[in-house]
Amino acid sequence: MSEPRQILVTSALPYANGSIHLGHMLEYIQTDMWVRFQKLRGNQCIYVCADDAHGSAIMLRAEKEGITPEQLIANVQAEHSGDFADFLVDFDNFHSTHSEENRELSSLIYTRLRDAGHIATRSVTQYFDPEKGMFLADRFIKGTCPKCAAEDQYGDNCEKCGATYAPTELKNPKSAISGATPVLRDSQHFFFKLPDFQAMLQQWTRSGTLQDAVANKLAEWLDSGLQEWDISRDAPYFGFEIPGEPGKYFYVWLDAPIGYMASFKNLCARRPELDFDAFWKEDSSAELYHFIGKDIVNFHALFWPAMLEGAGFRKPTAVNVHGYLTVNGAKMSKSRGTFIKARTYLDHLQPEYLRYYYAAKLGRGVDDLDLNLEDFVQKVNSDLVGKVVNIASRCAGFIHKGNDGVMVAGDAAPELTEAFLAAAPSIAEAYESRDFARAMREIMALADRANAWIADKAPWSLAKQEGKQDEVQAICAQGINLFRQLVIFLKPVLPVLAADAEAFLNVAPLTWNDHQSRLENHSLNAFKALMSRIEPAKVEAMVAASKEDLLAAEAQAPAGNGELAKDPLSAEIEFDTFAAVDLRVALIVKAEAVPGADKLLQLTLDIGDERRNVFSGIKSAYPDPSKLEGRLTMMVANLKPRKMRFGVSEGMVMAAGPGGEEIYLLSPDSGAKPGQRIK
Ligand code: MSP
Ligand code: ZN
Repeated sequence: MSEPRQILVTSALPYANGSIHLGHMLEYIQTDMWVRFQKLRGNQCIYVCADDAHGSAIMLRAEKEGITPEQLIANVQAEHSGDFADFLVDFDNFHSTHSEENRELSSLIYTRLRDAGHIATRSVTQYFDPEKGMFLADRFIKGTCPKCAAEDQYGDNCEKCGATYAPTELKNPKSAISGATPVLRDSQHFFFKLPDFQAMLQQWTRSGTLQDAVANKLAEWLDSGLQEWDISRDAPYFGFEIPGEPGKYFYVWLDAPIGYMASFKNLCARRPELDFDAFWKEDSSAELYHFIGKDIVNFHALFWPAMLEGAGFRKPTAVNVHGYLTVNGAKMSKSRGTFIKARTYLDHLQPEYLRYYYAAKLGRGVDDLDLNLEDFVQKVNSDLVGKVVNIASRCAGFIHKGNDGVMVAGDAAPELTEAFLAAAPSIAEAYESRDFARAMREIMALADRANAWIADKAPWSLAKQEGKQDEVQAICAQGINLFRQLVIFLKPVLPVLAADAEAFLNVAPLTWNDHQSRLENHSLNAFKALMSRIEPAKVEAMVAASKEDLLAAEAQAPAGNGELAKDPLSAEIEFDTFAAVDLRVALIVKAEAVPGADKLLQLTLDIGDERRNVFSGIKSAYPDPSKLEGRLTMMVANLKPRKMRFGVSEGMVMAAGPGGEEIYLLSPDSGAKPGQRIK
């Protein structure tokens, strides 16, 4: 065997202003499986990540929630860490870009770039919100499209006609934060001189560091000439101040990738055997891999290698790019319930089901990957339960009953033993090259052969015959040995199944090379079911709960839970828009919990001439819903009816407060009558 490799691996740092969803999980699960494979092979492999905590979006969200950005990012980090751990994503370190290590490394890299002449400064004219006292990023400006005159379009592109433009071209521009009309203002900005690295990037992007499709895409940019990159933002901004430049901050994407280094540095302080410089010095022999989605390629394959080169650090060995997750063939959708948060999934299903499904579908390319929920149930049940676990459950009983749980010696199927051994290098090669789909196909082909052999030998029939006990024991011992090999091959994908199997097999944690040995004259522990089938009802419940997440968030939307609102920030509306809302006084005739929904109440509302059925995500504040009966509230009566699993919701009641126990249903003064319009 060759020397163990030293490998540092990262996944992209998730933004600290939202929850992790199954699209994100495609990346973290993929990376984790690759890292577990490397560790199983005996390589030194370190997996680091962090929350991406800086930027104006996080600053504004914290402001709206009435907490400091530091509190917000601490809350989110706790949530993210829990989600990852429960999906069995085993980071060696999960840090934050808002850390001392990152501040120091960002300053160091910036000053090295500056001193080497790679930083330029010049004045930039931009929209400024005079009420809020801040410069506005494109997405915080809205106005009328200069091409097609569609109203309410963002500052850089029109959703109606697809035009792209500069925010200054928008007609009637407004700040999406305060509603004020922005004014143009000049300010000094700092630029990273990316064109200095044109030749290096031309070579580096073609040196086996990227998938072909990615390198081809980048070639288009490289051929049309690189632009200098604006790396500064003016106060107020949540981030790091640029050394020696009061009031100027690093743009979030400058310090985000440095967060990879910072997380590793933070880990080095805890793990003395790790040497930061050995991994990051210019001529390091360690390998460095970044796993990312296709939307952030330019940051990782242009800006980042250039920054590293300019500051005297090593560049990545490779950047591994994956496509986007779709669910049931379409973009994840909140209203269809296919925008599934990591936590919502975990509330209903085992993490390993999804890990296996992703593995079975993940190739080396950058194509999008579809989570088809029916196929998901079918594939997991048929492969994992029907093929893999089935081998053990078919054989274990006979060994316990017929031989006190001891596996006999001898090889009852040399041709299968040979085939399993021969397949291992190819499976390993598939893992190494991130062709998880091929690895899973080859493993399942072995499982098929093992099952066919056992079915052919039919130990269950032999067991009923006189004098066949030795044969039964030989077959079942062979079956368990084949099962053990499959478990080793699947261990990067299914670590819990592997741990449970190790307990049943009564063996120490298995490593890759253990597939070359077999168990003989070996005592097994009691067999208990290793994995149960996915019940389709659980998947339906998960989809229903995802719709409910949306409804609950909408019910709280007036109180400023901006997560799902198209525009999280208040903007002025025309009087006509307001007048189009049919607001009514409503009498709560009946209020009940909805069976199977944790967050919803079902309300029957009397609005004078008719009764309405409304589902509202306010249960957390009204655990005893009957107390609401007889009370007046206010409702939006002309909201488009929404079909839900529990029935149709015909409107929305109005409430204030941040959520949880603090939701306050609005009420009119006494004397108001059900059905009266609110003006
Ligand atoms: N904060 C940046 C990354 C900084 S890295 C120095 C960011 N964060 S993110 O939360 O938006 O995305 C994190 C990762 O998840 C990215 O690699 C992104 O491509 C990936 N995905 C986010 N949504 C996804 C899908 N729907 N499908 C697959 N991957 C997705 O970008
Ligand atoms: Zn337009």
